[in-house]
Amino acid sequence: MSKAKFLIPQNSKSNIKNIVAVMSGKGGVGKSTVTALLASNLAQKGFRVGILDADITGPSIPKMFGIKARAEVSGGFFVLPQSNGIQVMSINFLLEEESSPVIWRSPLVIKAIKDFWTKSAWGDLDYLLIDLPPGTGDVPLTVMQTIPLKGMVLVTSPHDVTVMIVKKAVNMVRKVGIPVLALIENMSYFRCPCCGQDTFIFGESKVKEIARESGISATAVLPLDGEIAKLEERGEIYQYVLPQDVSRII
Ligand SMILES: Nc1ncnc2c1ncn2[C@@H]1O[C@H](COP(=O)(O)OP(=O)(O)OP(=O)(O)O)[C@@H](O)[C@H]1O
Ligand SMILES: [Mg+2]
Repeated sequence: MSKAKFLIPQNSKSNIKNIVAVMSGKGGVGKSTVTALLASNLAQKGFRVGILDADITGPSIPKMFGIKARAEVSGGFFVLPQSNGIQVMSINFLLEEESSPVIWRSPLVIKAIKDFWTKSAWGDLDYLLIDLPPGTGDVPLTVMQTIPLKGMVLVTSPHDVTVMIVKKAVNMVRKVGIPVLALIENMSYFRCPCCGQDTFIFGESKVKEIARESGISATAVLPLDGEIAKLEERGEIYQYVLPQDVSRII
């Protein structure tokens, strides 16, 4: 499985230093949350950041950042909405209403993602993060083969079923020839707001073990924190300050 022959270079309106996709294989483990938190963490550190929301049928990035705008087209390029300096491209910005469903088969979904890549005016960015949909199917494969990625961040959780599926995703990414930059365990622990004690609600952390087995050098853990869910509901995820600086792992 090769990627080189399908790669589409950056367009004339983009100058991006690092392009990193966020994947898991498993649904609902927090890919979009991790993408949003990584983007916020990088932007808080002064980096110029963008997010390409590659989840066409289940976009959640606009809601997390409270963006309801439409993507205007100027000179054949999308002028991108932003929040706290983070530029975003998502299918929601092209829909009449954010609740309108996108009922498309794979070829149309793939075309939308390629359009997002070729027609978005990102300008100068330090990081472009790509939020992938669940699974190891058409969309992750297309992103890996057409967008010149620096590498992939894999999201896992302590649940056994997640671990099994994440290992599949790691193997897929390697087969396509993309470097795995980091493994992030989401919902790793819960810190009691009263006594500060950490509880491993979904079982002991497995991130170090998977990383060792898979030869992934960088890991991070994120807490299960009601504040994250609350800020996402309010469209204010940018406000969340991570307990550890993750900007260096990507
Ligand atoms: N660390 C966390 N603490 C609290 N809530 C979280 C955390 N991570 C994710 N959530 C919540 O879990 C839900 C699923 O998260 P998210 O949408 O990021 O997952 P996903 O992997 O992107 O899902 P999908 O596979 O549908 O794209 C959201 O409601 C989110 O607010
Ligand atoms: Mg998601």
